Amino acid sequence: MGTKLVFSNVSAGYGRIQILSDLSFEVQEGEVFGVIGPNGCGKTTMFNALIGLIIPSKGEIIFDGHNITKMAANARCRLGIGRTYQVPRPFEGMSVFENVLVAAVHGAGHSEKEGRRVALDALKLTGLYDKREVRAGELTLLDRKRLEIARALGTEPKLLLLDEVAAGLTEAEVKDVMKMVADLKAAGYTIIWIEHVIETMVNSTDTLMCMAEGRNLLVGKPLDVMNSKLVEEVYLGVPEDE
Ligand SMILES: Nc1ncnc2c1ncn2[C@@H]1O[C@H](COP(=O)(O)OP(=O)(O)OP(=O)(O)O)[C@@H](O)[C@H]1O
Ligand SMILES: [Mg+2]
Repeated sequence: MGTKLVFSNVSAGYGRIQILSDLSFEVQEGEVFGVIGPNGCGKTTMFNALIGLIIPSKGEIIFDGHNITKMAANARCRLGIGRTYQVPRPFEGMSVFENVLVAAVHGAGHSEKEGRRVALDALKLTGLYDKREVRAGELTLLDRKRLEIARALGTEPKLLLLDEVAAGLTEAEVKDVMKMVADLKAAGYTIIWIEHVIETMVNSTDTLMCMAEGRNLLVGKPLDVMNSKLVEEVYLGVPEDE
């Protein structure tokens, strides 16, 4: 298995505010790569740089051998980068199926016929097939998260970006999400998963990165990262008298 994604000394932000600073990491093909870090450390911003919502001022992003650092967002989507949003935002008035179809046709550029096939596959993989005719606005939070993932799958990504899909869910629902991610991994997707729910990061990832202040603080096996002193300190904050 090869390297799917490389961030190499990436600095990026919003206007003049720099958020990511010299961020470097690698994601291997077929793995679930977890990302943790305190609120505001730049996790979602890293996704924004990856999908082309913001363009780095420094460094390189290489995806599947392509230098995508400055590539337009729609071109990246077509190369196979699919994201979910931290706050799900489906078209409320449309059915579950229509929401995924829109992603497949407009996001990935499929014909309607091909889009329908891709959309139905995405609904099966996310457990929403039986709810495909339900209006998106009527879904429970868990199903909205499923739909968010199904919409990303509608663009037929090779790399799937999950941003806090377990946030706000009950313990039982979090288990459902973990099962879904395991299914997606088994189906061959490479996944980057940002999450604050520790259980998911320890049990469902192959590699875990902890970010702090826009940098890669530590990357390694999930338990090693979780148990490290460095990571404990960024979450607790270093005591003032030290
Ligand atoms: N569109 C924007 N314009 C200006 N600043 C922004 C914008 N989006 C985010 N920021 C700032 O960038 C910093 C990093 O935000 P980001 O959303 O990447 O953090 P995060 O690690 O995803 O946090 P959380 O765990 O709370 O989701 C924060 O200080 C945030 O206020
Ligand atoms: Mg975030």
